Amino acid sequence: MSRPARPRRRRDAARTVAYHVLRAVTADGAYANLELARQRSRLSAADAAFETELVAGTCRAMGTYDRVIERASGRRLGTLQPAVLDVLRLGTHQLLAMRVPAHAALATSVDLAALEVGERVAGLVNAVLRRVAAHDDQAWLDLLGADEDELGRLALTRSHPRWIVEAWSRVLPAAELDAALAANNVAPVPTLVVRPGLADVAELDGVPARWSPYGAHREGDPGAVPAVAEGRAGVQDEGSQLVALALARAEAPEGPWLDLCAGPGGKSALLAGLARQDGTRLVAAELQEHRARLVADNLRAYPEPNRPVTIVADGTRPAWVEGSFARVLADVPCTGLGALRRRPESRWRRQPSDLPGLTALQRSLLATAITSVRPDGVVAYVTCSPHPDETSAVVADAEGVTVLDAPALLPEVPDAAAGPFVQLWPHRHGTDAMFLALLRRDPIG
Ligand SMILES: C[S@@+](CC[C@H](N)C(=O)[O-])C[C@H]1O[C@@H](n2cnc3c(N)ncnc32)[C@H](O)[C@@H]1O
Repeated sequence: MSRPARPRRRRDAARTVAYHVLRAVTADGAYANLELARQRSRLSAADAAFETELVAGTCRAMGTYDRVIERASGRRLGTLQPAVLDVLRLGTHQLLAMRVPAHAALATSVDLAALEVGERVAGLVNAVLRRVAAHDDQAWLDLLGADEDELGRLALTRSHPRWIVEAWSRVLPAAELDAALAANNVAPVPTLVVRPGLADVAELDGVPARWSPYGAHREGDPGAVPAVAEGRAGVQDEGSQLVALALARAEAPEGPWLDLCAGPGGKSALLAGLARQDGTRLVAAELQEHRARLVADNLRAYPEPNRPVTIVADGTRPAWVEGSFARVLADVPCTGLGALRRRPESRWRRQPSDLPGLTALQRSLLATAITSVRPDGVVAYVTCSPHPDETSAVVADAEGVTVLDAPALLPEVPDAAAGPFVQLWPHRHGTDAMFLALLRRDPIG
């Protein structure tokens, strides 16, 4: 008896690389953006663009696609082989979001599964994706959202975990919630920033930033800009520029400035230039040695006088004398939920259980920041997260300080006030969702 002929499988370059990037993200905890940059060189420009959209879009919407796949397969996700699940996620994104014709999405996914996982899973992938293709994206959202409340439907439609939608709903008017979540699904144009005193914004060859006098938006490889290559400029979201600028604008005594959590050094690089213009020096402290090296690299172009200093130090156990500084930036480790636009997978990787450990560290670092500044000196407490547990709740516990009116120091930025704090938003400002509290240390005794 003759065996049935094995189907001829075709390898699609962009989808194969996309699959390996997604596997690195889901199985090894890789960052999608870094992995995309690492593997992209294997592709033509057109294939690289397709692959980037395929991976980034799949990562962003992964939680929603998983629910589609669960329903379409009639199986719990945990019973699917992880590699097969990744093929199904990529296929689902092509079917529901990329306008790839269904026959092409199906055929290439089945070939990918057969070549990368094994011929035995081809039938399963074919059957599940056929059922996914039976509805368009809106029909799937209607189907899955039928039993959900309003926040649940928003979570599904805008592809966010429910706990993040709930946190946003605590700090944003209900009418803005949908726009705020939608803005997280659009990758931003990169923003560049000059090192003050070392380069001019015109050298960035981009569109000037809306409010930061140091920034410009520019598509393409930042390394192609000579000022960036020479360390006289860098890459930095406008929100990060604005919070650093607000600290520099606050009224404070004379004396050196400290960046307590400096790595990789974006804000240090801006503050160092502003400190030099103020006739003083920035000390940039970072716990991890490899990140301190990144800080030093970001600061490399600054010459004497008042050349910035980078040190490896634990900000919870200061290596300096109390009250040594006039201004301190505490840009603390946080969930990073304010930068979801730029980190497609992170919304699904982060968990509410991350919060207690982070908020304990944030309180400890803020306490050090306060004792590091001299009486009357100013502390900027900054997070790249709008989650209230990491922002106002941490500041509420700070002792020995008076809360300053931070929005008053950024009067050109509309709708940035959250009480005495600054809260920026992608949908309002086109920036990351940075939070800033400015605190003045009270006189001692
Ligand atoms: C949010 S990032 C800072 C980003 C930075 N300000 C910038 O703009 O590029 C927080 C940094 O704090 C560092 N860090 C964590 N724990 C620390 C500690 N105990 N002391 C000092 N730095 C710490 C992390 O390694 C990380 O580099």
